[in-house]
Amino acid sequence: MAISDLHVAYPENRQIVEKLRPESDSDWLIVAGDVGEFVADIEWALTLLKERFATVVWTPGNHELWTPKDDPVRLRGDERYRHLVELCRRIGVLTPEDPYAVWTGHGGPVTIAPLFVLYDYTFRPPDTTKEEALAWAHETGVVCTDEFLLHPDPYPSRDAWCRARLRETEARLAERDPAIPTVLVNHFPLTRQPTDILHYPQFAQWCGTVETADWHLRHNAAAVIYGHLHIPRTTWYDGVRFEEVSLGYPRERRQYNIDGMRAIRHVFPEEAPS
Ligand SMILES: [Fe+2]
Ligand SMILES: [Fe+2]
Repeated sequence: MAISDLHVAYPENRQIVEKLRPESDSDWLIVAGDVGEFVADIEWALTLLKERFATVVWTPGNHELWTPKDDPVRLRGDERYRHLVELCRRIGVLTPEDPYAVWTGHGGPVTIAPLFVLYDYTFRPPDTTKEEALAWAHETGVVCTDEFLLHPDPYPSRDAWCRARLRETEARLAERDPAIPTVLVNHFPLTRQPTDILHYPQFAQWCGTVETADWHLRHNAAAVIYGHLHIPRTTWYDGVRFEEVSLGYPRERRQYNIDGMRAIRHVFPEEAPS
């Protein structure tokens, strides 16, 4: 099963997380980022889910990588990420830094590969520079909070951190057993198409990198799991199933009349379209 964007700082979302349960003792849960912003909140949610699901696989969203001014944990950037990886190891949750686990239940065997590749502003309009796209965002007031709270330390920029993550992640994926298909899990969509329906196209530049556009083909994906856009849906690209599994914000669910309890999705067996 899979879910993302739990955003547990919202009491309504916390109540939904408290109700999340597996359907059998053998269910695994993929958590595709944006659990929360405060380390204590992230630990609360992942600990609770690990107590219920046989295996929990987590990959960070942008929100986990913020350094909010009220969080006693002051770590920034890569140090904050490593701190969360250590937290996950302490409670038995798998991360992008651990050996990829192989699911052998329904739909398996598949290698579950949590990826952390961030974004590099390349989902911007064609024929514009990064600077022009950012200026457009600032002029129109649609600027991702990452610009203020997601520090790339020790890298000089978020795109430089993304490039480093791309190199490391490619090396890890190259080591997987090529005979076994994958489930690729990344907070940000691996392909650009899901961002085409964003209400504010300015926001796409914080949503991924063109460098992963063919990863679902190169790495033999049986499914791709992502979140971040808060537009839960199933789409197909090149015959590969992409599942956005966001819970999102309470106000979004009210606006679009979405039942938060249905945010958790089956990866296998594949769900009928809802
Ligand atoms: Fe989110
Ligand atoms: Fe996000």
